[in-house]
Amino acid sequence: MVEEKTVLTVSSSRKNDALTWGQDGFSIQGVEGNFRTLKIEEDEAISSDWKVKQDSSLTEYLDSYVYGQSISPTSSIYKLFAIYVKSMVHDLNGPEQLNVLDVGCGIGKNHPSYIDLLADKVNYLGLDAIDIHPNRDYPFICSRIETMSEFSSFHKKMDAFIFGTSLDHFENYEDVSKMINKMATPGAISIFWIGLHDVPLVAGEEGVRIFQRIFEDEGPLTVMGHFLKFVFLRFPRLFYALQRRRKRLKNNTNLDEFHFNYFRVKDLPEVLSCFGEIIDITMIPVTTSVFCTCQQPSNLTT
Ligand SMILES: C[S@@+](CC[C@H](N)C(=O)[O-])C[C@H]1O[C@@H](n2cnc3c(N)ncnc32)[C@H](O)[C@@H]1O
Repeated sequence: MVEEKTVLTVSSSRKNDALTWGQDGFSIQGVEGNFRTLKIEEDEAISSDWKVKQDSSLTEYLDSYVYGQSISPTSSIYKLFAIYVKSMVHDLNGPEQLNVLDVGCGIGKNHPSYIDLLADKVNYLGLDAIDIHPNRDYPFICSRIETMSEFSSFHKKMDAFIFGTSLDHFENYEDVSKMINKMATPGAISIFWIGLHDVPLVAGEEGVRIFQRIFEDEGPLTVMGHFLKFVFLRFPRLFYALQRRRKRLKNNTNLDEFHFNYFRVKDLPEVLSCFGEIIDITMIPVTTSVFCTCQQPSNLTT
């Protein structure tokens, strides 16, 4: 590991320069030294829609980092995802150390906790468009995936890609899959944690929370009281909110100002198959989360 935490800033006009990278950091032809962070300056137009969504999502990104570190139901899913990621990457078993790119790794100074079981066993690279904490405790590429994928040094180099709740933040997942295809080695895998938006899943997750609260008290009358309050006060509001969600999903209307996509179970085959053969879909019970893995053909040529 490099001792000095410094940032190498390059313009995307240097996309064909010799760039070397690994756990020791990054270096580029003509610049002396190794740098922990590679910051790629944009020269392509960024859509204003993406900028607006990124700005409104910042609090959500901050929250997801905090959830990953704390004791909460979401942090348990981070831990489950860590085990899932490790088992999927472990199955790749190559002679060389594997290159793993975390696409949309987030804004924290440390790697996301779903990498905890893997970080020192692979060449882990985090990629994110937000430059809060440019100096991180892992090799970090500060760029949009669109820009990074143009650098020839990253072509046909990545053995695994991780999308931890990030896929729905990209404008066009088909375009992203094309960039992944450019950077993937033959047989590379893409591992996803996706938050689904199906009404029954959202209702189930919310229902568990409500029933836990109802039964927190021990007295039968209090429990009954909580239940009746739920039936007459809370349920009508929940029903209305879920019906509205159902309608919005049906009409392809945005559910919030953060995401570009609102994936549902029925969308998974079409979305995932852009990233190769679907080798696993694991629903996490009583949550809206699903973990999935796709694999590129082993005779990949493009
Ligand atoms: C919900 S956060 C997920 C963070 C982290 N993976 C986690 O689970 O804690 C989504 C991340 O995707 C990043 N992102 C969105 N569009 C991107 C793009 N075009 N290129 C690279 N990163 C992007 C955002 O900056 C954000 O940090």
